[in-house]
Amino acid sequence: MSSWGGQQKQSSGGLDPHLPRALFLLLPLVALAQGVKPSPKACLTLPSMEGSSVSCFSPARFPAQLPADTALLVVEFSTLARLPAAALQCVPGLQELHLSSNQLQELPAELLLPVPQLKVLDLTHNSLARLPPGLFQASTALRTLVLKHNRLEVLQASWLLGLKALEYLDLSSNRLQTLPAGLLANLTALRTLDLGDNQLETLPPDLLRGPLCLQRLHLEGNQLRALGEDLLATQPALRYLFLSDNKLTTVAAGAFRSQKELDMLDLSNNSLTSMPRGLWKSLGKPSRDMKDGFDISSNPWICDENLDDLCHWLVANKHRMFSQNDTRCAGPDALRGQTLLAVAGSP
Ligand SMILES: *[C@@H]1O[C@H](CO)[C@@H](O)[C@H](O)[C@H]1NC(C)=O
Ligand SMILES: *[C@@H]1O[C@H](CO)[C@@H](O)[C@H](O)[C@H]1NC(C)=O
Ligand SMILES: *[C@@H]1O[C@H](CO)[C@@H](O)[C@H](O)[C@H]1NC(C)=O
Repeated sequence: MSSWGGQQKQSSGGLDPHLPRALFLLLPLVALAQGVKPSPKACLTLPSMEGSSVSCFSPARFPAQLPADTALLVVEFSTLARLPAAALQCVPGLQELHLSSNQLQELPAELLLPVPQLKVLDLTHNSLARLPPGLFQASTALRTLVLKHNRLEVLQASWLLGLKALEYLDLSSNRLQTLPAGLLANLTALRTLDLGDNQLETLPPDLLRGPLCLQRLHLEGNQLRALGEDLLATQPALRYLFLSDNKLTTVAAGAFRSQKELDMLDLSNNSLTSMPRGLWKSLGKPSRDMKDGFDISSNPWICDENLDDLCHWLVANKHRMFSQNDTRCAGPDALRGQTLLAVAGSP
């Protein structure tokens, strides 16, 4: 491993030849860690056949002289609120850019134009409330975009234009209250969509029209009150569906009609009292069979005849049921507090 700006490091020589070898090896690192030399030396460079990796922790500014073959760049834990528009001008082969845990409030619209091979962009834990339209117009190779823990309240479809290859989009832990229609219309390659821990009360019914093969959908930790008939209809390849910690009172009778490949469903901690008849019968059938389990605990189930259908299904599938002891009736009075499995007559 060589240091970013190794010249200064070497010129701090004049070491006592009698120093123990281990100490001799440690000294440059100590000097580096203490920032002994005047210019910012918070970066380390690791050259390799595939291009240099540059990692900067708590730099005072964005590194100015990056090796031309930089493939991976990490700039994290700084107070940077802005980046220079030309920050990536001299690293045309950049494949991964990790900018998490800074204080970025905005990004220059031109930032990514020089790096069309970028595959991964991580902006976790910043202060972004918006993105410039067209930011991704040259990002046709980008596969992973992480915007988790920012301050996004709204999104615009124009912000995501160009992301033809995007497979993984993480928008969790923002402040999203609504999503625009057509947001994902051109994200045909999307496999994972994470909208968890926002403030979404409703979703546009056509939200998932666009992705051809979505496999994981995270909607947990929102304020959703209903799961509509058509939201999931276009996603027959869906494997994992997370809807816990919402305010769901209704799930439409056909809401899961396309979900023949489901491996896992989490509906825990909602406000469900009942379920439409027949909803469960075909879930994950015939092949996947929700093999990784399902959770319907912490809902105020009303254990009357309307729940018979679900209860029968539960008995047959209880080996895949999470939190059985927390899946209880809230009514009618005579059954309050009983587990659904007990009511269904399972031993
Ligand atoms: C989808 O792509 C087409 C063709 O590039 C473009 O005209 C349209 O504006 C895009 N729509 C959205 C919502 O991104
Ligand atoms: C249940 O969901 C609410 C949000 O609807 C959340 O505040 C609460 O912490 C969750 N409870 C548990 C036990 O996870
Ligand atoms: C099941 O839940 C009840 C009431 O919430 C609790 O008292 C009991 O300890 C739990 N049993 C197990 C095995 O977790």
